[in-house]
Order: sequence, then C-alpha cells, then structure tokens
Amino acid sequence: MLPRAPRRIWGECMNPPLNTEQPVHGRRHRGKRYDPVWRAAEPYLRARKNDVHVPISFAFGERLLTLYAKANEDVVLLAIMLHDIGWHSFDMADIVDKGFGPGGMQSDIRVLHEKEGVRLACEVLRKTGWSEGIIAAVAAIIDGHDTRPRSRTLEERLVRDADKLWRYTTTGVAVACDWFRKTPHQYAEQLEAEIMLIETDVARKMAGECLGRTRAELLLHVI
Ligand SMILES: [Fe+2]
Ligand SMILES: [Fe+2]
Repeated sequence: MLPRAPRRIWGECMNPPLNTEQPVHGRRHRGKRYDPVWRAAEPYLRARKNDVHVPISFAFGERLLTLYAKANEDVVLLAIMLHDIGWHSFDMADIVDKGFGPGGMQSDIRVLHEKEGVRLACEVLRKTGWSEGIIAAVAAIIDGHDTRPRSRTLEERLVRDADKLWRYTTTGVAVACDWFRKTPHQYAEQLEAEIMLIETDVARKMAGECLGRTRAELLLHVI
C-alpha cells in the first residue's frame, strides 16, 4: 500500500539537527490517551533499556501513522509500547548472550520474550480497560514480532518498522552497539546492511536519513 504523502521524510528522523524546532513526536495530537498504559507498563520497561527504546519507537510509530491513515492507531501504538515488555522476565546477560549473538533473532529466548510479552501485555491492557478486540490484535502482533518472517497486516508492518527505526538514531546506535558487542562504527555498518529488512518505503528512507545523521554526529567517517 502506498503511503499518503511521502514528503518531508527528513523531518521524520528522530535525531534531527540539534537546533531543530521539529517536535520530538506527535503527543500533542493525542493528549494523555496512552499515559495509563505507560504507567502500568513502566515496572517492566527498565529491562534492556526498553524505557529508552520504546518511547523512541513509539514516536516513529506516530510519524508512520500520519502517513498510513488507514492503520488502526490504537493497535499500532499499544503494540509498540508493549512489544518488548517480555524482556523483563529474563536476565540481561542471557538476553545479550543468547538473543543478540549469532542466530539470536531465532533463538529460544527471542521466542520466549514474545510469549512472555503477550502475557504481560494482556495483563496491562486489561488492567487499563482496553477492549478484548484491541487486546487480541495487539497480542497477535507481539507474538512473533521478531521471529515471524513477514508481516500479515498494515498495523504489524508499521509496528515492526517503528521497532527497527530507533536503532538508526544516535541513541539507538549508542545503546544497541553494546548488545551486539560492536563499536558504533561496526554497528552502523550492520544497520546499513539491514535497511532492506525494513518493510515500508517511507521507513527505509527514514532509516537511511537517520543513519546519515548518526554517522555525522558520532564522527563515524573518522572513528
Ligand atoms: Fe522484541
Ligand atoms: Fe523492540
């Protein structure tokens, strides 16, 4: 499906020039609708720095939703907020050793964080009063979000792209290079090769532009 208006992609990048007046994300349009979910999820988000990754991916999700108006906003944003909540149930050393080493994307711990994520997300969403239909749609996306080869719906595609896009920011490289035991330069090379895994044209373009800025900010042409 073609995006509605694939313009101003540069403005969608989450690490814009330092003096930019671009809003960091579109919360001003949505008020506090999701705040109870953030609060209910917070005890689980410290694991693996998901309290850094998830808000950044959430903002990318909001940006993608402005271009894909047919997607169900609640399903996309709630799935982004809760997709990695399952990492809370695992030890960080295990997460890095088994989930980010060779074959990590198909490892047992990857599958387990998806299953555990479904369990915890359902708890959080019931506690905060969401309908069973929304809960089922969010759970279906969380289950397999890293290990399923292909997206089945537009909502799933946007969640998966927002999940990946944060890595291309300076913050994403700074945090995730350690999980992969790489330098920022080495990790940026990995990310460049993985742009093809991003599913929408708009998000691929955003990733390329973000990576360019990240490379400049981290002086990756030198070090
Ligand atoms: Fe995940
Ligand atoms: Fe994630």
